[in-house]
Amino acid sequence: MSNPKILITGGAGFIGSHVVRRFVRNYPNYSIYNLDKLTYAGNLMNLKDIEDEPNYTFIKADIVDDAHILELFQEHQFDGVVHLAAESHVDRSISNPTEFIRTNVLGTVNLLNAAKAIWAGSMEGKRFYHISTDEVYGSLGDTGFFTEETKYDPRSPYSASKASSDHLVRAYFHTFDLPVVLSNCSNNYGSFHFPEKLIPLAIHNIKTNKPIPVYGKGDNIRDWLFVEDHAAAIDLIFHKGRLGETYNIGGENEWKNIDLIHKLCEVMDDRLGRAAGTSAQLITFVKDRAGHDHRYAIDCSKLKAEFGWKPSVQFEEGLAKTVDWYLSNQVWLDGVTSGDYQKYYELQYEKR
Ligand code: NAD
Ligand code: TYD
Repeated sequence: MSNPKILITGGAGFIGSHVVRRFVRNYPNYSIYNLDKLTYAGNLMNLKDIEDEPNYTFIKADIVDDAHILELFQEHQFDGVVHLAAESHVDRSISNPTEFIRTNVLGTVNLLNAAKAIWAGSMEGKRFYHISTDEVYGSLGDTGFFTEETKYDPRSPYSASKASSDHLVRAYFHTFDLPVVLSNCSNNYGSFHFPEKLIPLAIHNIKTNKPIPVYGKGDNIRDWLFVEDHAAAIDLIFHKGRLGETYNIGGENEWKNIDLIHKLCEVMDDRLGRAAGTSAQLITFVKDRAGHDHRYAIDCSKLKAEFGWKPSVQFEEGLAKTVDWYLSNQVWLDGVTSGDYQKYYELQYEKR
């Protein structure tokens, strides 16, 4: 196909905006459609640098609205879908699980149904790529890794909703021959990350001299991947991934939360010209997250072996780049931390 029309859902969010930017720039012959509801997490400021490109179109739509989604597929006749739109924050899923079921489960089924309807004549060259998380595999002890064969064991409403959507995508492959591919990635970090997640929240709080809330004892472990490395993996899997297959994506970069926060405090002290140890004084241990998964760690050897992908950005370098981005994008940060963010912050953290 020489001029494919590619739908990217959730392209105004954190990872989605990096994927949209990469596809718009790398594939000038593709028409890239970014479909996003612009929830609190969606922000067109994330795409300012590419919004006027001739191969880019923004569509404001809600994936839960099945009739509208079908109409859009009929109107534009998309050849491929990269599906990232989701409710993505575990703490919000604990406060409001139903919204996660609506968006992550129903929204995904609506996209699957629309793709199935318009591709019914011929599935040749078509592709539905579903982006998921390592959290569907559950929680690890201090050893071992999640592989593509690890049994699903989601433990938060967020991960349960993502697991449901993964199962549905695979069901459409087996039942309806829909040409699907999936990936499950570890924690991402980088620019345009909404400051409800650990790293950008801590950067914002350190900068404004507010407590850094560390859940429990800070001994939970996450595997961190620089977001542009995730976007590179998504590009490869979209183009080369084998149909019906799942690929794990990880940073091979495990950090205990408390160690990561200390590392971040060092970078912030350096960048803000503060004496060593100043920012670390803001660390505050708070009530743990309910059902807090202990450890996530990904075995991404399948992706490495099949496509030669590997994480390209070392954590120290990625963290410094991320801090520098937040410090030089104050207007963006002010925009996303005003209004509703303050209410969210009070609700989540005041009683902790
Ligand atoms: P995000 O919360 O930053 O962005 C989600 C985007 O989806 C936003 O732009 C939002 O407006 C949009 N959206 C939400 N509900 C919608 C709806 N009903 N209709 C249309 N658009 C809607 O999320 P993210 O961190 O960029 O994650 C993107 C995807 O990657 C998600 O599917 C997530 O599960 C997955 N993922 C995230 C991580 C991570 O570390 N952030 C890791 C692995 C996988
Ligand atoms: P988060 O960024 O929410 O990602 P996820 O829950 O999807 O892994 O959290 C990363 C880790 O940091 C997780 O173990 C929870 C912890 N955490 C805190 O200690 N304090 C916070 O304020 C937040 C948001 C997270």
